[in-house]
Amino acid sequence: MGKGEVTARSGPGYLLGQHIPSQRSTASVTNRQMQIEFGGNVALTREEEAAFSRFEKTGWERAAQAFHDHWGPLTAQSSGALLDAAGVGSGHKVLDVATGAGYVAAAASDRGAHAIGLDFSSSQVELARQVYPEVLFQRGTADSLPFDDATFDAVVMGFGMNHLPDAELAAAEAYRVLKPGGWFAFTVWAPPRDGEGFGIVLSAIESGGAPNVELPPAPPYFQFADAEIVNRVLESCRFGDITTRIVPQYWQHTTPDQLFDAFNEGAVRATAMLRSQPPDVQATIRMAIRNEVMKLGVDGRFEIPMPAALSSGRKVN
Ligand SMILES: C[S@@+](CC[C@H](N)C(=O)[O-])C[C@H]1O[C@@H](n2cnc3c(N)ncnc32)[C@H](O)[C@@H]1O
Repeated sequence: MGKGEVTARSGPGYLLGQHIPSQRSTASVTNRQMQIEFGGNVALTREEEAAFSRFEKTGWERAAQAFHDHWGPLTAQSSGALLDAAGVGSGHKVLDVATGAGYVAAAASDRGAHAIGLDFSSSQVELARQVYPEVLFQRGTADSLPFDDATFDAVVMGFGMNHLPDAELAAAEAYRVLKPGGWFAFTVWAPPRDGEGFGIVLSAIESGGAPNVELPPAPPYFQFADAEIVNRVLESCRFGDITTRIVPQYWQHTTPDQLFDAFNEGAVRATAMLRSQPPDVQATIRMAIRNEVMKLGVDGRFEIPMPAALSSGRKVN
């Protein structure tokens, strides 16, 4: 059995690493990535973490503008909820980790906070500085924050936790740079469901695609939408008052192909998976996605549910 081959499946989310709490058995799973995805307590090795980090970095250097064009109007929808969960108000010092084009940092700044956006991708930081010239942005990585202990009133991260090789380390770093009483809040994508953006795309890839694509082993993509895992990880970093809830978001599209284009151009893991398919398979996937999106059309517009899971915890001492 070669690395990258898939021997077991359970729902479309497995393609990106869906965490499925009720199906933890790894008995029939021989592929390493599948063991990780099925919650088999398989930690990535240092080499795998480094390889995954390089894969993500290369992906984000390429996808910065496309993510901004396709995904920015979507992810920015939960900026307010994220800042509310972190108690951000005027005069607060706020760190926005994995800032991308800077939506959350800019929203914090609009509230009168002193915000700084941090991202490990130079093209993201460059883009953020163009889009929000009045906000501070700098390069840096989530697992080794370039700030002193107890610097910030709030640390936020929009849709970043699912891109980190070691998100627990990033949470520990957030704890370190927070002042006592400060909040860490983050969003991730809710698990894929039928009739919603991720469910539509992953189902189309699963039914039309050749799933034995070479992707580096990676942490389960949807694990931080699971309140149990969030509790475990944040508690281990000594956070208290931990909550997780779903925040509705809707992608507004004007053509039924925008959903395919967004994943094909503006993501990292899903983009690699789509682009590695042969052209005829890609065309089948595009058509399957288009057919599902058409069902969501009203008056030539398409409103695609893409809910987020929002979690927060407080540095209680
Ligand atoms: C899905 S985008 C989210 C961007 C933005 N926060 C938003 O809500 O739209 C993920 C971002 O995380 C950044 N990122 C990924 N891994 C990172 C790491 N280890 N340290 C810092 N930034 C990282 C990527 O460069 C990218 O800008």
